[in-house]
Formats: sequence, structure tokens, C-alpha cells
Amino acid sequence: MRVSAIREILKVVSQPGMISLAGGIPALESFPLEIMEELVAKVFSKYGALSLQYDRTEGFLPFVEALVPFLANKHIRTSADKILVASGSQGVLDAVGRVLISPGDKIAVESPTYLGALQAFNSCEPNYVCLATDDDGLIPESLEEALRGNTIKFIYLVPTFQNPTGRSIPLNRRKQIAEIIQRHNALLLEDDPYSALRYRGDELPPIALYAPDNVIYTTTLSKVLAPGLRLGICVAPEAIRKWLVIVKQGVDLHTNTFSQALASEYLSGGYLERHLPKIINLYKPKQEAMLRALKEFFPADFRWSNPEGGMFLWVEGRKGMDMETLYWKAAERKVVYVPGKFFFANSGEGSETMRLNYTMSDERTIHRAIQILSDVMKEALLA
Ligand SMILES: Cc1ncc(COP(=O)(O)O)c(C=O)c1O
Repeated sequence: MRVSAIREILKVVSQPGMISLAGGIPALESFPLEIMEELVAKVFSKYGALSLQYDRTEGFLPFVEALVPFLANKHIRTSADKILVASGSQGVLDAVGRVLISPGDKIAVESPTYLGALQAFNSCEPNYVCLATDDDGLIPESLEEALRGNTIKFIYLVPTFQNPTGRSIPLNRRKQIAEIIQRHNALLLEDDPYSALRYRGDELPPIALYAPDNVIYTTTLSKVLAPGLRLGICVAPEAIRKWLVIVKQGVDLHTNTFSQALASEYLSGGYLERHLPKIINLYKPKQEAMLRALKEFFPADFRWSNPEGGMFLWVEGRKGMDMETLYWKAAERKVVYVPGKFFFANSGEGSETMRLNYTMSDERTIHRAIQILSDVMKEALLA
């Protein structure tokens, strides 16, 4: 029901002249269109008709082989036979839900968390245990408390440049979280779609590096190649991986062979290394423009995240404000965002928050949109 509520409010996004800071999708200019013909030619010359054939559920062999160094670069040490390819990381979230969740099981999630994960899990009817967060993401003590007081089927986290907040869990907390899940023999689903989109600061290794036997790790090519190819990647403990394969087989037999063949050329041919800096150079000034505009225009007592990468900023207004009501006022002035309350598993929380996306608009438009939003906010505070 919450999902249909959000769909309802986002219907106005496509109205003519609307500036959307609501989307959560990459900029069209971030896709490497200029190399696509070359990649397609390579796919047909190397794999011919096999690139259009049914294939293994686990993943197209040249692709999973190319994923080994790709994952090693993210500190995930694995081998081709341990990787599962899915239709986006959304496909991984769905499969994990189907394998692990029985109705009534408790799943621990950050508060707020990625709405698409809640959507993926909801059909399996879990109960959510909400974990407290601050500017540094999940508070480890909150996880400790949840694991002590409950039987938790798994914990779902987006530790780097989280959707919706943009926050990242610092290294010391990652190690603490790894220690906690190992001590409780708990299972973590670590969702890592954004870590490659780093604009400043030092790289952060995944929690999986510190607790590999307790983590199902998932990442995606959606933000570093193209989301329409639907390529998600999963590395899981073997006892779980084999069930994920069986479940996926029942859902779609396998992920699109042609997409996997294209992506294997993209990775193994060194195209990703050449293209990723272009994506970063595209998004970095957009993020800087939004941060500058927030500082220039937004009320002094509002707070917002200041992430070193990713696609989102999270704004916290004055307590008691309702960003869903203000959404309609902003929409009248042709600017939209996502009210933050939709990202909380428990309703009633986060009404004074909003998620802002900066990847889809140019810098000048971002500046204007934030100025308009700030007028709406200031008028609401005076009313
Ligand atoms: C945290 C998170 N996980 C998963 C996804 C799904 O990505 P994919 O395109 O790989 O299915 C998204 C997409 O926005 C996301 O933000």
C-alpha cells in the first residue's frame, strides 16, 4: 500500500516542465553509447548465436569469469563457480527473500532503508526490526540489541552511499558490525550498488571482507554500465547460493544472455576503467551544485547529508514538518522530490525528511530547483 501511495504522488513527475529530484536513476549521458556498436560486434564475432541462446542459471561463463577481477577490485575474493548473476541486484533481493523468508520471520533493516528491498521482501510477509542510524549510518549497538532480543533471519544493509540517505558506514563501524554478526552467527545481505560512484575521500571495503562466511554480497552494473541491461551479481555462502540458483531457475531460468555477453566484453576489454571516470566527472559537479545550493538557500536549522559519492542527498527539516504535504506545494511550482517517510519500514517516521537526487538534472537546473524548494520550505515555516 505504501508503494502504491508513492506511485500515486510521483505521477506528476512526468508533467511538462517538471524538475524532478525524485528519480533514483542514472543520467542517460552516463551510458557508454559510443562503444556499444563495438561491443555488439565483439559479442557476435566471439560468441555468435550462443549469445542469443538459453544459458546456465548461474551466469554466462565468460561474464562470471570477467566478474572475478571486477569483484576482487571491490575486495570480494571469489571464483567464477561461486558467482550468481541475476536480473539486477533487485533480482538478488527477490531471490534471497524467496529462499530465506517465511511469513512472520524477522528481517532487520536500517531506518530508513531502500524501498525496493522492502518491496522485494514484502511478498514473503516478513516482520521488520528497524535498526537505528545516525550520520554514519547503522549504529552497531542497535544491531547488537536487535540480535540479542530477536531471532533475525537476516540483516539488510546498504553500507556505502545508501539509498535514500547517501550515508556511508565508516571503517571502524564496518569492522564492529562484522564482529557482531560473526559472534551472533547472523547473516547479512550487503547491497552495494553505489560504491564505484566515489567523488572524494578514501575507498571503504565492504563488510563482506571482514565476515565473508556471514554475508550475501550483491552489486550491480546498473550504475557503471546501464540499468536496462539488468545485470546484478551475487556472492553468497555456498549453502545459500545453491538455493538461490534453484529459486532463480524457477523465476526466469537465467539472466539475459546477450546482456551478459556485452558486459563480459565491457569488463574484460578494459572499457569500464576508461568509462567510469566519465560517469564520476558527470555526477561530481551535479552533487557539488546541489550541496552549494542547499547551503545558499535552505533554512539554517535544516540538516542534510554530505556524502562522498552516490546519487542522493537526505534532508531533515524542522520536527513536525510534513514533507508529503509540502511535496504538493513544490509540485505546483514544478519541482518534485521523494518525501522521506516512504523509506521507513514503520509508518509514522521521517515525515520531516526528503530524498533529493542530483544525477538527472544539470547544475543550473539543480540550483534553481533548490531555490524553489527552499521558498516552499520557508513559506511553510512562516505559515
Ligand atoms: C540500494 C539499491 N539496491 C538495489 C537497487 C536495484 O538495482 P538494480 O538495477 O541492480 O536492480 C537499487 C536501485 O536503485 C538500489 O538503490
